[in-house]
Amino acid sequence: MTSLLILNGPNLNLLGTRQPDIYGHATLSDVEDLCNAKADALGVTISFAQSNHEGALVDQIHAARGQHDGIILNAGAYTHTSIAIMDAVASTEVPTIELHLSNIHAREDFRHHSYLAKVAVGVICGFGAAGYPLAMDAMVQHLENRA
Ligand code: DQA
Repeated sequence: MTSLLILNGPNLNLLGTRQPDIYGHATLSDVEDLCNAKADALGVTISFAQSNHEGALVDQIHAARGQHDGIILNAGAYTHTSIAIMDAVASTEVPTIELHLSNIHAREDFRHHSYLAKVAVGVICGFGAAGYPLAMDAMVQHLENRA
């Protein structure tokens, strides 16, 4: 069965209370529920994780190799700064979709640049929590097209 890792970076544990005008009112647990419902509908399994630490995210991406068929990655602010996470995605070669709740291109200039976009299959942003199931659809489609 297809297995996806849904990996969330720094400050996403605060969803629901963190700047709800930008990120919405759904908590990370609500997002996980959405993803579980989508996984059931798609007939895939998921692992859902969050870390505030760059190295821990790198470790989880490494561990995905051989364990998961695809990664949905909301790396939070590390998107804009982390060559280490970009290298981890490139090195493990597990297809990865970059995801953001907010439309990073409609925000501050420093959010317009993404290291991850260089190595991602594609990028989804601006759809709030609904972006997660959208990304799962997109990843399953991508994996089917590759097969
Ligand atoms: C984010 C966008 C990033 O710029 C920001 O640093 C985040 C959340 C999003 O989901 O919209 O932490 O990744």
